[in-house]
Amino acid sequence: MRFDIVTIFPDFLAGPLDYGVLSRAIATGIVDVATHDLRTFTHDRHRTVDDRPFGGGEGMLLKPQPIFECVESLGASDSSVERREQDSHFVTPIAPKPTRDLTRQSVILLSAQGKPFTQATAHRLAKLDRVVLICGRYEGVDERVNDLVADEEFSIGDYVLSGGELAAAVIVDAVVRLIPGVLGHADSNRYESFGAPDVLAGDSADSKTSDGVPRSTHGAGGILDYPQYTRPAEFRGTLIPDVLANGDHLSIRCWRRKAALAKTLHNRPDLLAGALLSDEDREFLASLGYCDEV
Ligand code: 6GU
Repeated sequence: MRFDIVTIFPDFLAGPLDYGVLSRAIATGIVDVATHDLRTFTHDRHRTVDDRPFGGGEGMLLKPQPIFECVESLGASDSSVERREQDSHFVTPIAPKPTRDLTRQSVILLSAQGKPFTQATAHRLAKLDRVVLICGRYEGVDERVNDLVADEEFSIGDYVLSGGELAAAVIVDAVVRLIPGVLGHADSNRYESFGAPDVLAGDSADSKTSDGVPRSTHGAGGILDYPQYTRPAEFRGTLIPDVLANGDHLSIRCWRRKAALAKTLHNRPDLLAGALLSDEDREFLASLGYCDEV
């Protein structure tokens, strides 16, 4: 799989790519990440990448020409005609371009105005051969980049970053660790918070144990991971929960499920509305004061 990152700060990504899972995936050739300096695609002496917004307003926008030429140089800019008709709200393309296989690659604009990037997005992107990430900067990007170059626009959360570079690092990390062969254990990303799509859909063969008890966080339907502890059992006067040390796997699973539910209620109550919850889960949440009736 290949990532192409279009940015005015090409060195910015060196750090995040140089550690752990990502650097190993790159070293073994499973992923290739290329960064492209937008200023290389300018034609003026000052290598200008930004300009003032039509209609007035604060700040500067990334101008379209360097971004168009950069993405064109990657051979990945020809979005499908259907997409243009469907998504171009603000401009009419003058000439239709050849179609491009959106099942193999995606050109993504990173901006605070994008759709939320989620674990489901990461799973979808992990199946592609190529992802182009255009890092927005300054107060914005000329909307024609969105309409004519990008297939989709993503944000990594409800806060404003100075640019898309950190978001690009986040997305590369989230996607690469889902590529088969990148993590040591083939299944080690399946049981984390947010899980895999089949686990979330509840149709995973192993979302139940042989005794029919839902695996606690194993198989969690979109709730947070349970808290975990390692040695020592007593640290600075705090003991780990007894149940985790007693070797009774069924009671450990029950404790973990409840702890995951309690943590989700505390930190992310919004997730509970979409979570797969048993009657027992609901009873437990109700005992904590959660009310799911509308
Ligand atoms: Cl992708 N870009 C910027 N500039 N801000 C963001 C973001 C992206 N995602 C959340 N905030």
